[in-house]
Amino acid sequence: MTATSTAASASPAALLGVYARVGPLFVAGNGAELVAEDGTRYLDFVAGIGVNALGYNHPVVREAVERALGTGLVHVSNLYRTEPGERLAEELVRRSFADRVFFCNSGAEANEAAFKFARKWSGKTEIVAFSGSFHGRLFATLAATDRPEYRKPFEPLVPGVRIVPREDWAAVDHAVSASRTAAVIVEPVQGEGGVRPVDPEWLGFLRELCDSRGVAIIFDEVQCGLGRTGTLFAYEQTGVVPDVLTLAKPLAGGLPMGAVLLRDAIAAALKPGDHATTFGGGPLVASVALAVVRTIAEPDFLTGVRQKGEWLAARLASLAARSPRVREIRGRGLMWGLELAEPAAPFVTAARARGLLVLTAGANVLRLVPPLVITPHDLERGVAILEEVLA
Ligand SMILES: Cc1ncc(COP(=O)(O)O)c(C=O)c1O
Repeated sequence: MTATSTAASASPAALLGVYARVGPLFVAGNGAELVAEDGTRYLDFVAGIGVNALGYNHPVVREAVERALGTGLVHVSNLYRTEPGERLAEELVRRSFADRVFFCNSGAEANEAAFKFARKWSGKTEIVAFSGSFHGRLFATLAATDRPEYRKPFEPLVPGVRIVPREDWAAVDHAVSASRTAAVIVEPVQGEGGVRPVDPEWLGFLRELCDSRGVAIIFDEVQCGLGRTGTLFAYEQTGVVPDVLTLAKPLAGGLPMGAVLLRDAIAAALKPGDHATTFGGGPLVASVALAVVRTIAEPDFLTGVRQKGEWLAARLASLAARSPRVREIRGRGLMWGLELAEPAAPFVTAARARGLLVLTAGANVLRLVPPLVITPHDLERGVAILEEVLA
């Protein structure tokens, strides 16, 4: 863990200004901490927005990268076979409802692919998404994302995508059409939309509705999947099994990777040439992802996430009971939102000034998604800072 000597001269001026980058220049990381240029350590409850499930500098990631590089294969075309991608697909199939896996490079790409697969399988075109959703920034995923400020400048988006009120039984019954709807897409726990676990009963209703109308259910587990909620997949806690599931963020330990998991019934509709992406599932990223998935899927690892999650839930509940600023807390495992009675952004700034990185999820929600490997001591330290900031 060494700071680079060139860091001091770096400037964001040449980067496209689509991010409002704030705070220090980070030059290193270890565990749940990021280290700034001046040596200041920040406790990181952002974790790359849910990417760094194993934190920074984790031996599993390091060793997997080094081992994979030892083969000399960073990339091999998907026109040929390589072992890591095949093994990773087998691992994901073995541990889920799915029969087949398609690899890509991001969450938005995984959802775009899922839409295409559902269209090809169903022969229908419409997609139904829900209020508060976030599924990505590409044209179809943006059409399924309930953020007017993100959508407006780029319209027209992909037609045939409808956003209906979430957990509204009548609205979904009306929107899902046997003749037009190819798929519905839903996050088992909405992330960007304010950390909102979905009502399992409504999800069960949605499952029945889709079954009776020949519509695929896509679960977007890009943010809430892979251990974040205390089970390998978030759907395991809902009692509902999807037809298609998308993953990304933590999958390859910080390297870019997305995946679409699907049942044979849908997979059978796809043939060579129907979809592709040059880098998807290359040997380096797949090797690292295999190591990450195996680590997270260990029963002891997931038990640890659940135990830390229960502790965090109790501490946040007690904080909420004492603080008039906190209206509600919501979450599962190590994915929590604090709905405030006022804008959340100033508290993000105040926490950073005290050495804690947190983020928002919409205007009034503070979001906490620490690395899953965070120690109880670091979790305690972070919550103590949060308490100071909200006092
Ligand atoms: C639930 C969900 N889906 C999709 C995405 C898009 O993922 P990416 O930024 O990798 O395209 C995100 C990103 O925040 C997400 O939270």
